[in-house]
Parts: sequence; structure tokens; C-alpha cells
Amino acid sequence: MPRHVAIIMDGNGRWAKQQGLARMFGHRQGVDTVHKITEHATRLGIEYLTLYAFSTENWNRPKEEVDALMALLVDTIKKETPTLMKNNVKLMTIGGLDRLPEETRRKMEECVEETSVNTGLNLVLALSYSSRWEITRTVQELARRVKDGEIRVQDIDEQTVSDTLTTRGIPDPDLLIRTSGELRISNFLLWQLAYAELYFTPCLWPDFTEEEFDKAIMDYQGRERRFGKTSEQVNKGYRL
Ligand code: FPP
Repeated sequence: MPRHVAIIMDGNGRWAKQQGLARMFGHRQGVDTVHKITEHATRLGIEYLTLYAFSTENWNRPKEEVDALMALLVDTIKKETPTLMKNNVKLMTIGGLDRLPEETRRKMEECVEETSVNTGLNLVLALSYSSRWEITRTVQELARRVKDGEIRVQDIDEQTVSDTLTTRGIPDPDLLIRTSGELRISNFLLWQLAYAELYFTPCLWPDFTEEEFDKAIMDYQGRERRFGKTSEQVNKGYRL
């Protein structure tokens, strides 16, 4: 079982269009999928589930859609907090939360605080997140520490970088799923996905089901993860 699954939830708009509905219907239906997949991940004993809910670039969408998405987030958090508590799910966030409207940010922080006692699935919401934003602020922070004499340039290694990203303390994803048939990473967890297995499905996010999730897991379980080594090394038959 992968320890950490990350998902780019794509296709809400196209799903709505297919039904002849406004885009927001797709996002609302997408919330149902979030609910189902979070419960399913809990049942499977997955430790971390990271969902790309709102990217830095999503701020460029029409204002009505951005406002409606922010309102939907508040609404969802209000409604779902009791379920998160019941299922022992701990909510975490990554991204530039300071850009969120005051109420959305406050509700998120309250839910993070309330669920911080939980010990089951860690549900990580990427909000106002993009990987280049994250890497840029990490470089700035490390440069500041060098300038202030806290660390030396030669002390910076991969672990230092990992520990300065917004995902510090979270293991790298083992599996990335992207729905809706697009074959892109779209500025998501570029550092952290270095050795993740990638799984793409044409299924639109509102149509994504527990069975579709199981298919992705089974596909992952059939992969050979070599982390740069040879197949023989990984399969233990390796001799010097
Ligand atoms: C991508 O579909 C989806 C988003 C930008 C938003 C995802 C948000 C949700 C599923 C709802 C809120 C989430 C939580 C965690 C409560 P798109 O709009 O890019 O679809 P398209 O590519 O078909 O236009």
C-alpha cells in the first residue's frame, strides 16, 4: 500500500459542461468525490492523502468562480469537520494561506487545530499552492539563514531543502493520480514527486470512484520502484 497518495483533481468544469450545467456544479460534485475518496483512503490505511484543491494559478480564473470556490471551501469544512473527527482524520494545509479570504483561512485554521489530535489519515489540502512558489520561498529562506549566519552554504543538502519546504515532515508521495486525461504535473510538488509513480486516468474528478482509486493502487502495486538502482539490486539477487 502506498504511504502517501497525491491527487490532481481535474475535470470538474468539463463534467459540468457535459451535463449542460455551470462549472460550479462540477466543483460541488467534486466535493462529494473528495468525501468518498477520503473515507476510502482511511479504510485502506493510507497515511497521507494530498489533494490539489486550489493552485496559485487558479487565482487568475474569473472572480465569480474564485469567490464561489472559496465559499464552497468554507461550507465544506464546516460540514465535514464532524466526519473528519469521527474518522480520526487530521487536516493539514500547504500553500500560501495568507492569500485566502479571511473567513476561508480562519475556518481552515480552526479545522486544522480541532483535528490536530487525530491520529489516522493525514489529509493535506494544497491551497493557493504551486511548486515554484514553494521552491522560491524556500530559496529565499535559506539565503536569509546564510546571510544571518545561522547556517553555512556547505551545510545545505537535500534534507535541508526538504525540511524548509511547506511539506516539511510529510513523506514524499509514492503515487500521484491525475484525473481527466491531462498528462501534466501542473506545478504540483515538483521536488517531492521525484520518485513518485504517476497514474493518469481519463475519468473526470466528479466521476472518480472508490473502484477507480483501487485501480490506481493496483497499478502502483504492479510497478517496480528502483530509485535509480538496477532491477537486480532491487530484487535482492544482486551480488558484487
Ligand atoms: C479542477 O477542475 C478543480 C479545481 C480547480 C478545484 C478543485 C476543487 C474541488 C474538488 C472542490 C473543493 C475541494 C475540497 C478539498 C473541499 P477544473 O475546474 O480545472 O476542470 P476543467 O479542467 O474541466 O475545467
